[in-house]
Formats: sequence, structure tokens, C-alpha cells
Amino acid sequence: MNNLKGIDVKIPLNAFTVVTGVSGSGKSSLVRGILYPALKRRLDEVAEIPGEYSSLSGDIDQIRHVEFVDQNPIGKSTRSNPATYVKAYDEIRKLYAEQPLSKQMGFTPQYFSFNTEGGRCEECKGAGVITIEMQFMADLTLECEECHGKRFKREILDVSFNGKNISDVLDMTVSEAIEFFGKYKKKGIAGKLQPLEDVGLGYIKLGQNSSTLSGGENQRVKLAYFIGQERQEPTLFIFDEPTTGLHYHDIRRLLAAFNALISKGHTVLVIEHNMDVIKCADYLLDIGPEGGDKGGRLVAAGTPEDVAACGRSLTGKYLSEKLQTPSAPAL
Ligand SMILES: Nc1ncnc2c1ncn2[C@@H]1O[C@H](COP(=O)(O)OP(=O)(O)OP(=O)(O)O)[C@@H](O)[C@H]1O
Ligand SMILES: [Mg+2]
Ligand SMILES: [Zn+2]
Repeated sequence: MNNLKGIDVKIPLNAFTVVTGVSGSGKSSLVRGILYPALKRRLDEVAEIPGEYSSLSGDIDQIRHVEFVDQNPIGKSTRSNPATYVKAYDEIRKLYAEQPLSKQMGFTPQYFSFNTEGGRCEECKGAGVITIEMQFMADLTLECEECHGKRFKREILDVSFNGKNISDVLDMTVSEAIEFFGKYKKKGIAGKLQPLEDVGLGYIKLGQNSSTLSGGENQRVKLAYFIGQERQEPTLFIFDEPTTGLHYHDIRRLLAAFNALISKGHTVLVIEHNMDVIKCADYLLDIGPEGGDKGGRLVAAGTPEDVAACGRSLTGKYLSEKLQTPSAPAL
């Protein structure tokens, strides 16, 4: 591991900082291995032992939380999905329990959950599929014969809101659901789903099992959750290479999502190789100059223009070319 002990970095609060540098220069070691656990411990939260460092100083008392937004699966339960994660599903269940047929039948919001007994299909326990474990092959997944993949009991599916039952809703994409609930004046539900669209996940189905989401999608669902939070104390959000696998269009959305966090008073720290992200930073920390033993030092720090003007920085060299091209994505 490169020796980061002598490195002294400053991160401006309520701003967008990007950590740059060649592969192996020590970006993750610094941010994941030192800064994150050191800050967590300072906030009296559980964290692994940070790597060696000299001191932690600055306006850190103004940071009340630190969140590492990784690509690990959302939630512990395989029965969660994007809609449950951003709490939109709670509102949807309530809406269905308020329909006349539900009132007549005594269906409470719980009946519209596939995680608890009551309304869900008991044959598949609300999964819609039956998984058969095979000894010498990959597990076999078959549609549940009882509910035909609809996940709920017949009588629950009879409850509808403007022609859609709960299974139809779970089958909608985020964008479709925002349009549907917006059209019928259910602004609460549409509003809870909006952050998912804002981070570029409009194409995900509400009922898509979280275990099937990609790493980048998981990360963006978490980001959407934080954007949707009403009041929150100043938080430092950390991302390690969040644009991996993202298309140019989605990168712009991601940048807009970071801005949404900053406008709420938070601070965003991102490790990134992508030049379109790097040039949008308020502040850059360029680690290097090379990988392994030849890394671990602060090569340049400042605005993208400052770093571009730094002759020693490899990032600065590419950046100066990029800053000259006029196609900078407008935020
Ligand atoms: N636990 C460890 N033990 C030994 N060496 C390590 C360990 N973790 C990282 N290193 C080494 O330290 C150097 C910095 O690694 P680090 O993961 O911080 O790089 P990085 O800048 O994040 O690179 P990348 O852009 O490829 O993610 C690398 O040479 C790496 O091989
Ligand atoms: Mg790394
Ligand atoms: Zn079933």
C-alpha cells in the first residue's frame, strides 16, 4: 500500500470535490481506507480501523453524518425493491387500502404487502415465482401456478384504483407510475418516486427485486433515497467511481443529483476517472504521481482550472485539453 501518512488534504464543505489520479495512486486507500473510517469514528459510529494518518482537522464539526454510497445490494432482504426502498410503496399500500372494496372487505395496507401474510399468495410467499434448488445445475425459477406471477391472492387483485390493481402497479416502470399517480392527483406517491427518475432510473419496474439490480443501479437507488429525505443534517456523501458503466446522458443526471444534495447543504466527495465529471468539480484533489510505491502524494489541488495549469499533474494535462473543448455539459 502506498504511504499516505504525509498527505494533507482539505475538503471544502457544501461543495463538490473530486479525487483524481492514475490507477493505484491511492485514491481509494485515502478515501475508503482513511477518511471515511476516521470520520465515522469521530462521529462515534462503528467503523473499521483507519489506515495511518496524522490528523483530522478543519470544519469537520459541521459534518453530522458520513455516508459511503457503495454499489452493494440495497437492503438486507431479497424482498425489497426500488419502490419499498424509497418508501413509495408504503403510500401505495395505503391508497389501495382506502379503496371502497378494501374497506368493505377489511383489507388493511398490510394486505397489499408481499412480505407479510394476509394478501400475498402463500404458495410463493409473494415472490410470484417458485425456486427449485437443483443439485447439479443452477436453480430453476418457475412462475407460481397459484397466482400466475401476480404475487397476490385473487381477491386482493380485485381491488383497483383507476383501472390498475396492485400487481399492475408493481409492473409499471418508475416513469409510468409517476405519470399514472400524478394524473390521478396522488402527488405524495409521485413525489416519492421522482428522485428515482432524477437519478436516471425511470426505466426500472417498481416491483423489480433488488437482488437483480446492477451495482450502479443499486448505488443510484441509494442516492435517490438520500435526495428524497426531507430534513437532514449536513452530511458528507462519498462515492467511489459512481459513473462506472453509465452512459453520457446518465452521467449528466448523476451530476445533477449531486448538485441536488449540495443545494440541501450537503458535501459530496467522489473518486472519479471520468473527465466530464472531473471538469465539473468545485475542487480537485489529484493523487499521484504514479501507481503503487510511486503514488500516495498530493500532486495538485484546487479548481479544475488550477489543476489544469499544474504542469506536474497528468490529470491537469488531460483537463486542460478538455476545458478547451466547448462541449461542457451544462448543469
Ligand atoms: N490492503 C492492501 N495491501 C497492500 N497493498 C494495497 C492494499 N490496498 C491497496 N494497495 C495498493 O496501494 C496502491 C493504491 O491502491 P488504491 O486502491 O488506493 O488505488 P486507487 O487510486 O483507488 O486506484 P484505482 O483507480 O485503480 O481504483 C495500489 O498500488 C494497491 O495495489
Ligand atoms: Mg480505487
Ligand atoms: Zn404465487
